[in-house]
Amino acid sequence: MEHMANILVLGGTGWLGRIVAEKALSAGHCVTALARGQTGDFPAGVSAVVGDRDAPGVYAPLAGTRWDLVVELTRIPAHAGPAVQTIQAEDWVFVSSCSVYANHSVPGEGEEVALLEPLDSSADYTTELYGEAKSACEKLTVQARGGRALMVRPGLIGGPGDPSGRSTYWPLRLADAREPVLLPQDDGDYRQSVQIIDARDLAAFILTAGLAGRTGAVNAVGASIPLDEALLAAQAAAGTEPALVRYPLSRMADDGVAPWSGPRSLPLVLPPGPEHAGFARRSDAMALSLGLERRSLEESFRDIIAFDEPWDGRQLASGLSAPDEAALMRLQVGWKA
Ligand SMILES: NC(=O)c1ccc[n+]([C@@H]2O[C@H](COP(=O)([O-])OP(=O)(O)OC[C@H]3O[C@@H](n4cnc5c(N)ncnc54)[C@H](OP(=O)(O)O)[C@@H]3O)[C@@H](O)[C@H]2O)c1
Repeated sequence: MEHMANILVLGGTGWLGRIVAEKALSAGHCVTALARGQTGDFPAGVSAVVGDRDAPGVYAPLAGTRWDLVVELTRIPAHAGPAVQTIQAEDWVFVSSCSVYANHSVPGEGEEVALLEPLDSSADYTTELYGEAKSACEKLTVQARGGRALMVRPGLIGGPGDPSGRSTYWPLRLADAREPVLLPQDDGDYRQSVQIIDARDLAAFILTAGLAGRTGAVNAVGASIPLDEALLAAQAAAGTEPALVRYPLSRMADDGVAPWSGPRSLPLVLPPGPEHAGFARRSDAMALSLGLERRSLEESFRDIIAFDEPWDGRQLASGLSAPDEAALMRLQVGWKA
């Protein structure tokens, strides 16, 4: 049996961090988590260290222990640097992102390609600088640990409870078959791909690869499949046969529909342009060789339908509200005629 480890989660009150903490607890490990408790509550069973990482001395209560594994979830270099310089640990996982890559135009790339210029440590973090900030966090971590750290770079994370609504929209929408459903029709000049890693599979990988002392960088990504295949998986999970109205993606800009995420969007649909042609098509070879195990997308979608609030036409974090969807369908009929 795997030995009981003393694990520190820097975070743990958000979506992924909570799943990591809960998985570690259920595997019999001791888990401590540092957060303010603002994003959510601390998971039951963890030793909660309530602290604001903007405050000086916040790591002092953690510095006297040598942790078996630290899982760091921050995106703020001013948090990542002092933490990794202060906290002693056998193994360290930094949860990074495929957003650290400088280029997204080439399908199939691995971990060895160029990263974005790291955000300067004196610069303020903003969401527009997410990739640069994660790149800076990676650099600070690798430097402080002399390379003895694993940079786990997820692509899109999905599954039950996804707060972004990107992975949940299509299965929840298709599960409500009372009205016709507007589905994207890929009529662009490159393949629309979807590459979702289930948060539960990602959490398991973070723990097993971390506790195994893996180092370096790894794309922790789902299987890359065409958008149509992902939509079919959502339909299969929903088990419904609603009337479908296909919406050509080339109409989006004219109709004011956003790609990818957010309100009035078609979730998972990539923005146009060759600069995105490699997006959702990252190589998963390294992760598979390190033991990443993935459930099927259909299973993730089934669990979303069982767990998340049903779609009822509300404006969700991502996707189309019922009035937006109906208006686009009317436009679509007009456009076809
Ligand atoms: N979603 C995706 O598709 C995707 C893709 C690639 C990578 N990622 C990465 O995956 C991870 C997702 O993490 P997550 O779901 O657990 O949520 P998160 O919101 O990214 O987690 C942030 C954690 O940091 C804590 N935190 C923030 N500011 C703090 C402060 N000043 N002091 C102390 N703690 C602070 C938050 O807790 P409190 O607010 O309670 O303090 C929370 O637990 C992130 O690293 C993200 O960059 C996500």
